[in-house]
Amino acid sequence: MFQPCRRVNAALTASLLVLQGALSATTSGEFNILAMNVAGLPEILNGNEVPGDKTTNAGIIGSRFAEYDYDVIHVQEDFNYHAYIYATDDHPYRTATSGGVPIGSGLNTLSNFDWVSFDRVKWDTCSDASENDCLTPKGYTFMRVAIATSNSTSTYIDMYNLHTDAGTEDGDEVARNSNVNQVAARIAASSTGNAVLVFGDTNSRYTRVADTAIRALLASENAAGPGLTDAWVELERGGVVPTVETVCDNPSTTNACETVDKVFYRGSALVELSAAGWTYASARFLQSNGSVLSDHNPVNVDFAWAAGGALRQSAFWGGPHGDWFSDVPTLAGLRAKPKPTLLSFRGASRLDAVGLTLADGTVFAHGGTGGDAASLALGAGEVWLGAELCQGEKSGQTRNFWIRATTNVGRTLEAGTRTDDCTSFAAPSGWQIVGFLGQDGDEMDQLAFVYAPQ
Ligand SMILES: *[C@@H]1O[C@H](CO)[C@@H](O)[C@H](O)[C@H]1NC(C)=O
Ligand SMILES: *[C@@H]1O[C@H](CO)[C@@H](O)[C@H](O)[C@H]1NC(C)=O
Repeated sequence: MFQPCRRVNAALTASLLVLQGALSATTSGEFNILAMNVAGLPEILNGNEVPGDKTTNAGIIGSRFAEYDYDVIHVQEDFNYHAYIYATDDHPYRTATSGGVPIGSGLNTLSNFDWVSFDRVKWDTCSDASENDCLTPKGYTFMRVAIATSNSTSTYIDMYNLHTDAGTEDGDEVARNSNVNQVAARIAASSTGNAVLVFGDTNSRYTRVADTAIRALLASENAAGPGLTDAWVELERGGVVPTVETVCDNPSTTNACETVDKVFYRGSALVELSAAGWTYASARFLQSNGSVLSDHNPVNVDFAWAAGGALRQSAFWGGPHGDWFSDVPTLAGLRAKPKPTLLSFRGASRLDAVGLTLADGTVFAHGGTGGDAASLALGAGEVWLGAELCQGEKSGQTRNFWIRATTNVGRTLEAGTRTDDCTSFAAPSGWQIVGFLGQDGDEMDQLAFVYAPQ
């Protein structure tokens, strides 16, 4: 467990980062998360068997979020009392509500970290077999959270919040497995090569035989899946997925019992991630007379992270549009150290494409086929050290307009058209740029660079 003063340290670290800029990159640290179903359905629809008035309880929940200052909080069922939670919470980055019942999903994120991309997705399937899961459009959210950013090494984790179909009728099970599989498919589409956290209300139990999809999230159960670890199974169950049901009291006085609110994670070649502590934060979310504030126990997990030893990335520049791509899986699978021998860009009025060829013949190419081609062959001792990107607006959306690459011998390669909204990236000392990740379409919407030791 971390000391109580750790959160002050996190805030200090964040401001130091801003002050230091390029001078030093934060390459390791700790953060904590909370998953909490806040029981915010309208009182007349569902009292959730929580004593007291939901408006008052929502205000207390928000004030506890502020007091304990969890770095990233995922809430579910944050419907009709949302404003009372945000009124007393003070996290600097928070999603705008998607609405109460029957318009919103009840999913929101309250964070000490900013993010570069966020979207809400409705489930493909819902079931009213036992409860009114189709009453409001439940689903999941995706965001790429910036844990630490600097001019060289930056660290991101893709975080998914979810609230799956409830109930145990056949229709519920079909819908719920479909919901979880939908998140797994999105991880495959958007988070390839990235560290991932999935935390929220899965409505699933390992001991319920029909809840097959959560097992398929686990690396230990499904080699072809997203390769996640359940932090509770790891830290509270010695890595053994339970087969005998253990239902939690609320408030829970033990971490050994299983709840449907779960936290899954994986690291990547870019960031090592490990769960350092797991706890039901139930005692922190009680009314002054000891009554609960929600019918779910909140789940708190502490994480430690470190930037990769063989691959790292820069921050992103441009806008969150187009399809995510990453050269990281290919780079992580190479036997030899990657060494670019040819840089190939395309650009005209904007930046159309970026690419490079490695010494072993591997080719990376992203973006479209428009613009004019520009290339630079690198000599044996020449390495790509820095890049400048400029962004601008096209059809109301931000994308990259210009790139300039600079090598260790001062040679450059440019493409596109310069704007006055630019930034520079520099490989960490002793490292070089070896690939890309970001979002593309016909042009380069959002772009970051992958670094490896020279
Ligand atoms: C990033 O680094 C480059 C080159 O090292 C420098 O020119 C630029 O000002 C730095 N930018 C920031 C935001 O620190
Ligand atoms: C605590 O207060 C709430 C709201 O006033 C009330 O409904 C509940 O019964 C009380 N709980 C206990 C244990 O006294």
